[in-house]
Formats: sequence, C-alpha cells, structure tokens
Amino acid sequence: MPVPPKGPEISDMSDETITENTILVNSQHKNMRLFFVLNTLVQHLHDFAREVRLTTEEWEEGIKFLTDCGHITTDIRQEFVLLSDVLGLSVLVDGISHPKPENATSGTLLGPFHTHDAEEKEQGDSIVSEGKGEPLLIEGKLTDTNGDPIANATIDLWHCDKDGFYDTQYENRDHADLRGIVRTAEDGSFVIKASKPVPYPIPSDGPVGKLLKIINRHPYRPAHIHFIIEKPGYDRLITALYEKGDPFEKSDAVFGVKSKLLYTLDKVGEEKASKYNMDKDDWYL
Ligand code: BEZ
Ligand code: FE
Repeated sequence: MPVPPKGPEISDMSDETITENTILVNSQHKNMRLFFVLNTLVQHLHDFAREVRLTTEEWEEGIKFLTDCGHITTDIRQEFVLLSDVLGLSVLVDGISHPKPENATSGTLLGPFHTHDAEEKEQGDSIVSEGKGEPLLIEGKLTDTNGDPIANATIDLWHCDKDGFYDTQYENRDHADLRGIVRTAEDGSFVIKASKPVPYPIPSDGPVGKLLKIINRHPYRPAHIHFIIEKPGYDRLITALYEKGDPFEKSDAVFGVKSKLLYTLDKVGEEKASKYNMDKDDWYL
C-alpha cells in the first residue's frame, strides 16, 4: 500500500506562519487543482482579514450572515447562489470559464428561473399565455463565428411577465409559461412570439436582500430575455438580452449586462403582423 504524503509538521502556529501552513496541515492531498484553489482562497481570506483588521464581533456577524444564506426559504431560493450573483462572482466566473471569441455573442449568468419543462415550439408559435404582457415577436439567426448558419440547434428562452414575475414564482403553476424551446431552421433562423419583459427585483426578502438594503443598493434587474443555445459539437451558450435605455441598464443588481447584449425594440409592422397574426404596433426584436 503506498503511504499517502503527509503534510509538514507545524511547531509554531503563530499568526505569522498560519497562512502558509493552514491548508498544508494534515493535508494528504492528491487533487492538486483542489489543493491549489483552496490554498489560494485561504491566502486571500487571511490577507483580507489582516487588511481590514477584522474583529471577532465582525466575523461572528459574517458567520451568522452565511448561516442565514444557507437556510433555503422556498424551493427556488438558494441564497448562496444569489449572494454569488450580487457580488458579481457568478458573471466573473462565467466569463473566466467560458471565454468567447471577439465576434461571438457574450455569455451571462443563468439565474435561478430556468426550468427543464419548457415545451418545444414550432417556428412562429407563442411561448406566452393570454394576458401576460405586451406581445413581442422575436426573430433571429444563429450563426457560427464564421457567419455560417447553424441549423437544428435548440434555443431555450424564458422571461418574466408584465408584473416582473416568472411562471415559477406563482403558487398555482401547473404548466410551463413564458418559456419555450424552438429549433433553428436550415438557414439558422428562428421566430417565436413572446411578451415584452419588464425590469424586476431579484428576491430580496432574505439575507441577501437585507445585505443590499444595509449597503443601500437596489435589487432591480433591467428588462431581459434569457437564452440557452445548444447543439451537439458546439459550446453551450448561456446568455440574455437586455433592453437598452432601461432605467437599470447601468446598475443591474447582478452585473449581467454587457454592451453586446443590448437590444432596442421596434414595431412589428404590417407585413409581419399579417404573417404572424399580430398587430402592426406590437413589439419586434
Ligand atoms: C434572473 O435574471 O432571472 C436572475 C438572476 C440572478 C438572480 C435572480 C434572478
Ligand atoms: Fe431573469
């Protein structure tokens, strides 16, 4: 039996040596990546505590806050994810982990409202039930970074209703609404009927909301539409499009907005209105 490597013995755990020794103590690490990540995290945590001269009372408050974040209040609430979102870490990690070429669409954070029960729709169908918001026609074309069309990819999209709620936020939800999956045609094109999303606050009645209040930050996201675009053989794209000029465009509570992801709405116009059975003054993206 090979003997696992033993961590070095520590004779002096004074606060000068604690940083370099903390993770090594008793570590019989085999996973070098994990060791590297944890070791670096501890170094930064210790440096942070030294830099701000963290007091015992402050760290007790910090631990209490993290404990509260771990208490799931409803089945869609995961406050650790929300905390990562409002600290900008979710978007940062996505950007580091899924870098995009200059000419590709940027990615952004997924958020907690994606589900796996969205229906597959035909081109031109609606993903929205009656009365959920002002009608919006979305047309697009999926291409690779050379500009060549990508056929038969799935476009999974979801957005909030006119009151700023996703279908999963209603207690009586019995089917998927405001969400659907459409496949791109041979030329990469897709067209789907949705409704105009509005800005909405992220859940703010838990510990993360309390934190935002204490530091005087609002909880709003600008109006947006989420997308997951997938096809075997290609990287999955998790992204969203945001309305340019939205009051929260420049102060998104979770830092998801990127300049390449802004849209401006148009009107559908006569021709598309008659083709898709809409009003000419309905919204067009
Ligand atoms: C969302 O866009 O759906 C979202 C993202 C982060 C936190 C809450 C909601
Ligand atoms: Fe959202």
